Amino acid sequence: MTAVHPVGTAHGIGFPRTRLRRLRATPALRELVAQTHVTGRGLVQPLFVREGITEPQPIRSMPGVVQHTRDTVRKAAADAAAAGVGGVMLFGVPQRRDAVGSGATDPDGIAQGALRDVVAEVGADIVVLSDLNLDEYTDHGHSGLLNTQGEVDNDRSIEQYMAVAVAQAETGAAVIAPSGMMDGQVGAIRDALDRAGHETVAVLGYSAKFASHFYGPFRDAVESALLGDRKTYQQDPRRRGESLREVQLDVAEGADMVMVKPAALYLDIVRQVADTVHVPVAAYQVSGEYAMLEAAARQGWVNRDLAVRESLHCIARAGAGVIISYWATEFAPKLA
Ligand code: PBG
Repeated sequence: MTAVHPVGTAHGIGFPRTRLRRLRATPALRELVAQTHVTGRGLVQPLFVREGITEPQPIRSMPGVVQHTRDTVRKAAADAAAAGVGGVMLFGVPQRRDAVGSGATDPDGIAQGALRDVVAEVGADIVVLSDLNLDEYTDHGHSGLLNTQGEVDNDRSIEQYMAVAVAQAETGAAVIAPSGMMDGQVGAIRDALDRAGHETVAVLGYSAKFASHFYGPFRDAVESALLGDRKTYQQDPRRRGESLREVQLDVAEGADMVMVKPAALYLDIVRQVADTVHVPVAAYQVSGEYAMLEAAARQGWVNRDLAVRESLHCIARAGAGVIISYWATEFAPKLA
């Protein structure tokens, strides 16, 4: 038996019959077979709004991103909608913090006030999402309440989350996104929303959220008071199997969508989750991913536009249908 080789023998020399370069030959061919397409509609722009400021404040480690005033956050949401972004996600930075994060439930606090404004501005056109956590509101900077030993108390934290979820839903926000990584948080929040008559408000679980150092610049953005780390509640970056359990539990508890966070260093998790569950999968391209690429671009070491595009395409290729990105508003028109 002679082996069949995938080569022709023109001129007596072996030539490949299979030429993968054929479909790479022109922009039109590459576009036709690209498989992955990212548009602004699948992007979510995070927005920071800080209490008690009259001018937007730059964030040291996130060049190009600002803490908004109550006025400018409204404008930023309108700009996102005009750019073709699919949603905006709000983060409040309060002036005062306490042990239980009471600012988070205040109907007139910074987050709820800004959410109401943003819903009025763009709520009919794009999705208004609200991050649900206590870390911006607690004086110790943890995502939950502490017990007498100083440990984060899962179940008491959840009770507080339930109140925050209802306060956020009252503003008209369409999606509540709990990011605290307490066990059972999604089910409890679902129940609280339903009991308060907010059964149509959706829940996006930050299901597979890792204890990552790539949230560093975000801590500047919200002026987090955290000392120590979140390793007792966020996932260990070295453990993969746990993510599926987190995701499946969240889906069972009623999560309408799930998230993997961070994105780029965790694409194996994004792919595994996307292959396993049948709810929309989001990935959060976090502050450290933004900062690294911006820093390299500022040095002239990478081409900013092309590198940002590539990063978004790769996150989508891994299976994320929704990408939360600090570049959303700027890149939505460029991706069109
Ligand atoms: C919690 C929250 C964090 C981020 C999003 N939601 C911080 C944390 O869990 O430590 C990080 C986002 C980013 O780094 O861009 N409020």
